[in-house]
Amino acid sequence: MSNTPTPDAPGSGGPAHGLSGVAMTLLTPLYGRAHAAELLPGTAFRDPAAASVLAATGYRAPEVLTDRGNALGSVHRAIVFDELTAAFCRGHPDAVVVSAGIGLDTRAERLAGALPATVTWLGVDVPDVVELRARLLPGDLTRVFPASITEPDWAQRLLPLVGERRNVLVLTEGVLMYLDPAGLRSFLVSCRTAFPAAELVADYFHPRVALSGLHPIVRATGARFRSGARGGRGLAAAAPGWEKVSDHRVMERISLGHRAAGGLFRLLALGAPAYSVARLRAAPTAG
Ligand SMILES: C[S@@+](CC[C@H](N)C(=O)[O-])C[C@H]1O[C@@H](n2cnc3c(N)ncnc32)[C@H](O)[C@@H]1O
Repeated sequence: MSNTPTPDAPGSGGPAHGLSGVAMTLLTPLYGRAHAAELLPGTAFRDPAAASVLAATGYRAPEVLTDRGNALGSVHRAIVFDELTAAFCRGHPDAVVVSAGIGLDTRAERLAGALPATVTWLGVDVPDVVELRARLLPGDLTRVFPASITEPDWAQRLLPLVGERRNVLVLTEGVLMYLDPAGLRSFLVSCRTAFPAAELVADYFHPRVALSGLHPIVRATGARFRSGARGGRGLAAAAPGWEKVSDHRVMERISLGHRAAGGLFRLLALGAPAYSVARLRAAPTAG
């Protein structure tokens, strides 16, 4: 795996991506996916678009976590999200998949051959990211909207494209930890209101990890983690009307050391993981 980043765009005075803060965090998972073939040669996961898109960002080394642990973590997380997305779409060929905080991810392209063509792919991110995405991914299979997912009406704005369909899967991959507790609650409430039968797949850190300020992405980008959850149930409890379906380990897939650290953390934290992916669903309303 090369640690040599692509040079900045000539004469630009800065990297071509032009991103800062939380928007810049999209570079690290993109870097991982771009190197998936070297990191996990034995798996089927490949992201052919990621390498060229990463190069076109003109990223600088300090903005991106290029170490093996973080790069592998990004790929394992993407594999778990891909598997859960594929299972949902196979069960619901009319599914609408909404990636909130989509960054430069190309899940629709990755899964295109394996899923019904009737699946609709939507995305949301901050305006700078949406503009960059339009520039770097001109043939994008995902229709992407500029919004903050803490704005109360972000999900309502997608309803004209969702129509009567109830099978909505919302993905937040590497996103919720950047929302403060009020923003997290607002996100869950707006999702639940707009998509009353939605499922949500989200990764989260335990509050002790999230709020420690020690994650290297903080130093790399200046973005801060602002909230965490004690297990999938804790995440579901961050707003009314959500229930946990399942939890999916990621950290434990990275290495034996990560697995041991994850196990020790669970022992000390009464069973709650340091980091995990949860699948939630909107709980049916009474009556
Ligand atoms: C770590 S990146 C993950 C990107 C993508 N999901 C992936 O896995 O490659 C976090 C993304 O969340 C977006 N984000 C963070 N807070 C947001 C908010 N309040 N509204 C919309 N997008 C947000 C960032 O702009 C960034 O693209």
